Amino acid sequence: MAEDIAPQQTAVTITLNGREISAEKGEMIIAAAERAGTYIPRFCYHPRMEPVGNCRMCLVEVEGPRGSTLMPSCFIGAADGMVVVTDSEKVKKAQDGVLEFLLANHPLDCPVCDKGGECPLQDQTLAHGPGETRFVEEKRHFAKPIPISDLVLLDRERCIQCSRCTRFADEVAGEALIDFAGRGDQVEVATFPGEPFSSYFSGNTVQICPVGALTATPYRFAARPWDLEQVESTCTGCAVGCRVAVQSSAGRITRLLGVDADAVNHGWMCDKGRFAFESVNGPDDGGVALALSDPSKRITDPMVRKGGVLVPTGWGEALDAAAAIIRDATATSPMGLGAIGGSQMTNEGAFAWNTLLKGVVGTDSVDAQLGDGLEATHVLGLPRATIDEAADACTLILLTGDLREELPVLFLRLRAGAVAKRSSIVDLSPRSNALGDLAAVRLPTRPGDSLLVTRCITGDAAAKTQLASHPEGRTFTDDDLERARTLIGDDGAGVVIIVGRSSLAEDASLIEAAARRLNAAYPKAKFLPALRRANVMGALDMGLAPGILPGRTMLGTPSEGLGALWPTLPDAKGLGTLAQLAAMAAGSQKATLVLGADLADVPDAGLVTAALDSTARIIAVTGHGGTLLERADVVLPAAVAHERPGTTTNIEGRVSRLGQKLSAPGQAWPDWMIATELAAELGSSSGVSTVADVTNQIAAVAPSYAGMTAEVLNAANASDGLVAPLSGAVPRELNRTDPTAIPGLGAADRIGLASYTGSVRPDRDTSPPSRVATTATIGTSDLEGFAEPTIPSADNYSLRLVATRRLYDLGAAVTASPALRGLADSAVAKVNPYDLDRIGVTTGDSVRLRSARTAAVVAVEADAEVVRGTVLMEFNLSTDGEPRVTVADLIDASAVVTDLRMESL
Ligand code: SF4
Ligand code: SF4
Ligand code: FES
Repeated sequence: MAEDIAPQQTAVTITLNGREISAEKGEMIIAAAERAGTYIPRFCYHPRMEPVGNCRMCLVEVEGPRGSTLMPSCFIGAADGMVVVTDSEKVKKAQDGVLEFLLANHPLDCPVCDKGGECPLQDQTLAHGPGETRFVEEKRHFAKPIPISDLVLLDRERCIQCSRCTRFADEVAGEALIDFAGRGDQVEVATFPGEPFSSYFSGNTVQICPVGALTATPYRFAARPWDLEQVESTCTGCAVGCRVAVQSSAGRITRLLGVDADAVNHGWMCDKGRFAFESVNGPDDGGVALALSDPSKRITDPMVRKGGVLVPTGWGEALDAAAAIIRDATATSPMGLGAIGGSQMTNEGAFAWNTLLKGVVGTDSVDAQLGDGLEATHVLGLPRATIDEAADACTLILLTGDLREELPVLFLRLRAGAVAKRSSIVDLSPRSNALGDLAAVRLPTRPGDSLLVTRCITGDAAAKTQLASHPEGRTFTDDDLERARTLIGDDGAGVVIIVGRSSLAEDASLIEAAARRLNAAYPKAKFLPALRRANVMGALDMGLAPGILPGRTMLGTPSEGLGALWPTLPDAKGLGTLAQLAAMAAGSQKATLVLGADLADVPDAGLVTAALDSTARIIAVTGHGGTLLERADVVLPAAVAHERPGTTTNIEGRVSRLGQKLSAPGQAWPDWMIATELAAELGSSSGVSTVADVTNQIAAVAPSYAGMTAEVLNAANASDGLVAPLSGAVPRELNRTDPTAIPGLGAADRIGLASYTGSVRPDRDTSPPSRVATTATIGTSDLEGFAEPTIPSADNYSLRLVATRRLYDLGAAVTASPALRGLADSAVAKVNPYDLDRIGVTTGDSVRLRSARTAAVVAVEADAEVVRGTVLMEFNLSTDGEPRVTVADLIDASAVVTDLRMESL
């Protein structure tokens, strides 16, 4: 009887060790056997890469017309009637031989090797090895270890030449920065002269190296496998939401490993996500000596400003002080209070804070984005694609920034589709980028032109004329345009549009208008929002944006459950981050809650300075130090990644659970608990006492999360998360709200009150709902009221600024992680050589860039990929020398685009 597998049209039956099993036709024997419960040892085989068959560890016997033959099972596809034997004497002898040869030169320094205890070579030698060797010669020796990048060390003599690392770099990351060099027993993995292995994905090679040849600098000698404790979780480094295993030893995070979630990350991680855990640990000394403004410092105690100085205190006094500030600020209008941030929180934290802000105080001036994202109605209203759909799209339109810099593992997924020729890419980015380099068509788009370019695509001849009137002319030909139209087709079926911010110096309304145009012209196309910050999608789903409510509903149409749960609702649409900062400067917003946000991420530094120079009171909710604390009146310490359970939502709307690996330091609480306690201080209780209570509350009142209870999300079959809204019916009996009655609820979700010194009042408000309306989730019809912006025309003397993101910048995750700190480049202005020639400067020279905001001296770099008439600077990087300048100093966020004059010095 064949093993039970999902029925396939191409299913074949093979005999494995005398037992019939099903396999897909052409599926590698090693994979089919593993699924049927027979593990075949291997070194070079990796299920996410092309097989190469070069280690021969996976030899099996395959029956053929001339008897049985030894064949590499990772390189032989299953065929109907195939007879395979994996456990014969002949196979064992072959495996013995392979191991004996591999060990001939292997140093056997297992006691000091980081891989010791979790090494396939060690394990397979014990399980399948010969027990003794015939080789007595001196082994090879190399200097060890050698750094091949800032993050990866290579012990060459341990390498078994499986080529997993080199294949990963070439096939998966598309950066063949490492390869084999040398001959015979001197073969080694090497970088090219003068070119380090400076890939954003280098940590994956460490994870897949089957021996200890590649090690990560932060993990070297940090722990042994048997010391490690582990939980599965979701990376909150960006909004891709890669599934990860978080490991700790002796109360400190030691390592993150990618988990192979088929729908999300395929086991890969980017190095920022992998190594930023160091910021969670904080400095070895606990950071006692660090200034509060240092992002490496962990905030462990509530603080209240007294006599101009922040003084550590207990939760009681801090919550009193915060509540007093909120009461003062909202004495005449709830809009006297605003909130900025929230995308670093869990869904539960975002919901609890929104309950306080919109549901208790009644302010709608709440924004999880920092003026660098997209308007929430667009994010939630455009028809959404999943990551899988994007990776399999017949055509991908890139209306966004460089995804390798912003959402690195999404880049890997989309790159795989393009390399396999499943997807053709139409790139509308303002300059070449890692994914755009694979594009079938590039329509380089200057800042301000995205709407015109999309109008061109959709057949608007006037837009074509308008683009041609630019002093530098159009950036693409009619043939390019026709090719793009052909790839997109008539109705956009199979097309996925990645929509994000290609430049932070261009008003978001331009990209939004372009997305609306594409949506109207291609109704079958889907969109994947390229918002980058951690749980930004969860925060928007929880309503942390002006004009929206939890569960993707508009302010005027709360769900029945929400109307019943929240004592009040805002009367009018509130302010986004940029408008809140302006209102702080103008004095109309009297107090601001900064919810874990780094204001250096706001594109307009002048606006931030004006807001912080105002008299507005500031309550900072944070787990890390930062310059904001020099200004905050009250600081509420929050647990950060790996210290809190709950859920997050990724760009595709996938809700996945977080594992708690550590306890938060000192008095820090999870966000939901701080919000709940502060709401209680303000006289309102939502009746929650565990994080699962909040998860269940969300499931009960947020329409797009209906059915996503703690039990459903904690079920074994939801380990990769569930995409909201759930399409299938959720059994009614699962919709319970009492978490203690839920069998199988993860222990990590039972963060009860035992470790919690505040007071939660269980007197839940059961008064009838004041406003109940029919619930409709946000859709494309909600996008109809938005006007198309007017774009100022470019002149001959200015360069239009493009401000793009880099993965390693001066943000807290990088600067507070010793391994990543120092990887951020200096800010330079990248300009087309043609434009540099015009003013007679060249790479390395300094120029003065003058915007409506300020003038700054910046070094220039010639870059032929930058479109003529533009200047590209990367965000949140600082110039060398004094005064230090970032591109945010030059941007006027109130302008649709930022034009710069460039002068030689
Ligand atoms: Fe394989 Fe590791 Fe050697 Fe790379 S360094 S070839 S992954 S053994
Ligand atoms: Fe984490 Fe994003 Fe990197 Fe994935 S791509 S590992 S979610 S930072
Ligand atoms: Fe099959 Fe290496 S695993 S040859």
